Amino acid sequence: MKKIGIITSGGDAPGMNAAIRTVVRLAHSKGFKLVGFERGYEGLITNTFRPMGPRSVGGIINRGGTILYTARCPEFEKKSGMQKAAENLEKDKIDDLVVIGGNGSFQGAYELSKICDTAIIGVPSTIDNDVFGTEETVGFDTAVNTAMEQIDKIRDTAVSHERIFVIEVMGRTRGFIALAVGLAVGAEIILVPEVKFDVNKIYDTLEENHKKGKKSSLIVAAEGIGDTHKLTKEISQHTGYEARLSVIGYVQRGGNPTARSRFLASLFGSKAVEVLSNGEKDKIVGLQNGKIVTVSLEESCETIKPLDEKILQLAKELAI
Ligand code: ADP
Ligand code: F6P
Repeated sequence: MKKIGIITSGGDAPGMNAAIRTVVRLAHSKGFKLVGFERGYEGLITNTFRPMGPRSVGGIINRGGTILYTARCPEFEKKSGMQKAAENLEKDKIDDLVVIGGNGSFQGAYELSKICDTAIIGVPSTIDNDVFGTEETVGFDTAVNTAMEQIDKIRDTAVSHERIFVIEVMGRTRGFIALAVGLAVGAEIILVPEVKFDVNKIYDTLEENHKKGKKSSLIVAAEGIGDTHKLTKEISQHTGYEARLSVIGYVQRGGNPTARSRFLASLFGSKAVEVLSNGEKDKIVGLQNGKIVTVSLEESCETIKPLDEKILQLAKELAI
């Protein structure tokens, strides 16, 4: 009887629980044994796991976070830590490991796959949506909607006070959240780590807007673009307009997953069980052109997911 391990790893994302639920229930239906390792790769190193059955995942589909906890695990990036994890997988006779996480977790999974026989299947779950091989990750839709709700509220006060708001959203290295929510809230300017910006152009845009009678503007910026406090101050000093900063922060990582995130988690989890039942290994599941597909761990880890800069242009054209 196959024995399957599950971990949630890296930044948590709303919908991870829905993915755990799907994997546990479908694998159980196929007669597989399930163990959930706690705290991501740390749990593989410390061999901390719990048996999981259909009842253990009851009532979690609507809950943010992860019942298996997650962690960032620098120990796993060391040869000794990863070796210990591989030894535990062998000792526990884990045939397959489902890694529910983001691109960092998949980098780790790819390295682990080189030193152990356990078949690894990745389920892309991160609010950053920065995994190559899938158009969307579990949690991204929830984070974008959470940010949108917050920013709609900020626009009210921006308009009332005729202020400029710099709004920082998550995305330490990539701008997928900023791009999606920037378009969704009608931001006047969207700043992403992938595209260098000229602060003088920001001043010009704000001044042009003012002349057109647009006395308030929203600038949605991914945290990875740099010091948003400094940018906000510079805008005030240079343009003379009142500017304020609002950091949306960790609310983007929690909350009840949207239907979309739960739907994606269920389809991804189902594909993961299908793939491992067929004896496939070292792949991630993903959404491409409306279909749930698989991509090799190697290709996903070695390819940078492109950002559609045409959406930046569209946002600019719409913010006239
Ligand atoms: P996410 O999966 O959300 O992108 P991280 O980037 O923190 O989150 O990655 C999660 C974990 O994966 C890290 O804490 C680390 O344990 C492991 N990891 C990330 N990159 C590597 C790597 N290149 N080699 C080995 N382990 C890695
Ligand atoms: O990877 C998801 C993410 O939320 C990033 O957008 C953010 O920069 C990072 O995690 C924050 O990391 P931590 O939760 O470790 O502070």
